[in-house]
Parts: sequence; structure tokens; C-alpha cells
Amino acid sequence: MSQPLLSVRDLSISTVQDPRILVNDVSFEIHAGEAVGVVGESGSGKTLSALSVLGLLPRGVEVSAGTIDFDGNNLLSMDQESLRKLRGLDISMVYQDPMTALNPVMKIGKQLLEVIESHEELNENSLDRVRQALEEVGIPDVNRAMESYPHEFSGGMRQRVMIAMALILSPKLLIADEPTTALDVTIQQQILALVAEERQKRNMSMLWITHDLGVVANLVDRLVVMYAGRIVESGSVKEIFTNPQHPYTSGLLSSLPTTTDKTRKRLTSIAGVPEKPWLVGNTCAFAPRCSFATQECRSQAPHLVGTLEKSVSCFHPVGRAR
Ligand SMILES: Nc1ncnc2c1ncn2[C@@H]1O[C@H](COP(=O)(O)OP(=O)(O)OP(=O)(O)O)[C@@H](O)[C@H]1O
Ligand SMILES: [Mg+2]
Repeated sequence: MSQPLLSVRDLSISTVQDPRILVNDVSFEIHAGEAVGVVGESGSGKTLSALSVLGLLPRGVEVSAGTIDFDGNNLLSMDQESLRKLRGLDISMVYQDPMTALNPVMKIGKQLLEVIESHEELNENSLDRVRQALEEVGIPDVNRAMESYPHEFSGGMRQRVMIAMALILSPKLLIADEPTTALDVTIQQQILALVAEERQKRNMSMLWITHDLGVVANLVDRLVVMYAGRIVESGSVKEIFTNPQHPYTSGLLSSLPTTTDKTRKRLTSIAGVPEKPWLVGNTCAFAPRCSFATQECRSQAPHLVGTLEKSVSCFHPVGRAR
């Protein structure tokens, strides 16, 4: 297989003061044109892992181990200016809350122009590029939209504007961090369809972050399942859905609504809450919630073992002899 576009290896992220590990030994890769989903409960380390790729970790948090390679470049050794150039042009991100990316006191048209201007000189075509970017994401009456402020738009329309901003420079990799959780179901479906369509059209690579396995199942090629700062299982969507091997993945799947039961149960089948990553120690983080846990699971940490098609980090994988 060709070299991955993005390769994250043995990545750990910790607080700087009083070091506490938040993301522990995470490895995954994304190939050109491929979409990978990262799934996990709140606090499992999805956002921090994504922000580290953009060099945008919050103050007080740092990469404490590992490597991140993008298109042949080691991102962790890049200076701030090179990283700034990379953002938007090569990798861009859409956030859960569009107001994170949008400036509330600047007209939409100007904000998109600024994205272009931050990477190249504006010219007579720049305004047309802004119009086209907004049209592509389904904004009606584009000229009027360009003269509007973000608060004049609905939540769904603001997400569309943010997606236009993220796509205007045609990045190779788009990271979407739960961009639809705040929206109602119909609008959510429209936004998901829009992003999927743009990805296909551009043959763009994608990292989809979500806590809802059902949302990304049809949108990605492979899945990475995170738990308490670690990857517990990864593999192709087909493998994960038909042959889940980690008890946590299996629990996630059984909490998805079925065709006969449309009510969303969301993790009700797994009692308890995840341990904080820095409190896990040298054990399996899932052991306290796992009905298959043995002394082995409570006295040492399992490692992720397997292939790109399927890897699992568990001493007693589901479906194998226990
Ligand atoms: N700036 C920060 N300083 C210290 N700890 C942080 C900081 N940001 C996040 N954390 C901690 O790091 C861990 C991972 O956080 P992260 O935001 O990556 O989780 P997440 O999987 O994206 O969760 P969610 O689904 O709620 O968005 C959590 O325990 C969180 O409390
Ligand atoms: Mg998050």
C-alpha cells in the first residue's frame, strides 16, 4: 500500500504542569482519499488528538511522545509559520461550534476572503472563489450572505459557512470534529450528506470525530475506537460492525438503535463511566466496566495488536476463546 497521507505514531499528549497523561500511545493512519472515523465517549481524547495534528493544542497541553507525519513532513518539528501555512491549505478543520471558527463581528464574505488572503495575494478572481465556495455548500442568495454577519444565519447555515471556509483552499485532509451534534436530525443529515459529497468530489481524505458510531458508519472507510485516551480497537467499518473484538466496541454497537427499535439508547448497555486517562495506570482502562475482565486486565495494560484491517487492544477479545 502507498505511504499514508497522515501517520500518527505512538502519540501521547500530557498536561505541561504536574504532567497528567491525556492521550496515551495512539497510532493511526489515513491514506489519500480515505475517510477514517474516530469514535469514543466524552473525554476519550478525540479532540486533543485532532488538534495535535494541526499544531493547535490548547495552552498547558503538549505532545509528550510520538510522531505525526503528513505528506512526508514531520509536523512536530515544524515551526509555527510553516504550520500556519499548512492549516487551511493542506489540512483544515470544522468544529462542533461554528462560532469557534467564525468571527461574530465580521461579514461572511470578508471572512472567506481573509482565508484566501492568509495564504496568497488577493486578485480579481478572489471574490468569485468566495461566491463559488458558498454556492457549493448550498448557501442561497450568496451575494446577500456575503454581506451578512454569522448571527444572521441559522445553526445549519453557519455550519455550511464554516465548511465553505474549511474547503475554500482545497485541503488534502479535512478534520470534522462533531460538526453536527448541536443540530436537529434533519439538518444533521443534510450537513453529513454535504460533507460526504464534497469529499467524493475532491477525493479528499477525512478524519471524522464523533461519539456516535451510527453517525459515521456510512461515511468512513475505517474506524478508530478510543477509550480513556487510548485506542482500544481499529479496523475497516465492515470488520468493526460484523466482528467487533473489544468488549467496549461490542457494547457501543449494541447500544445503537436497530431497524425495529428507533429509540436512541446511547451506551445504556455499558454501566459506569470511563476512568480519567491519567488515573488508569498499568491496567486495561475498560476493566472496571468489563464483564470479561480478569486479574490479568487489572495488573497490566494490553497493547493494540493487528493490522490496518483490524487491530484490538484486549487480553480477552470477544469471539475468541477466553
Ligand atoms: N486544555 C486542557 N487542559 C487540561 N486537560 C484538558 C484540556 N483539554 C482537554 N483536556 C482533558 O483531556 C482529555 C481528552 O479531552 P478531549 O477534549 O480530547 O476529549 P474528547 O474525546 O474530544 O471529548 P468530547 O466528546 O467531550 O469532545 C479529557 O480528560 C479532558 O478533560
Ligand atoms: Mg471533543
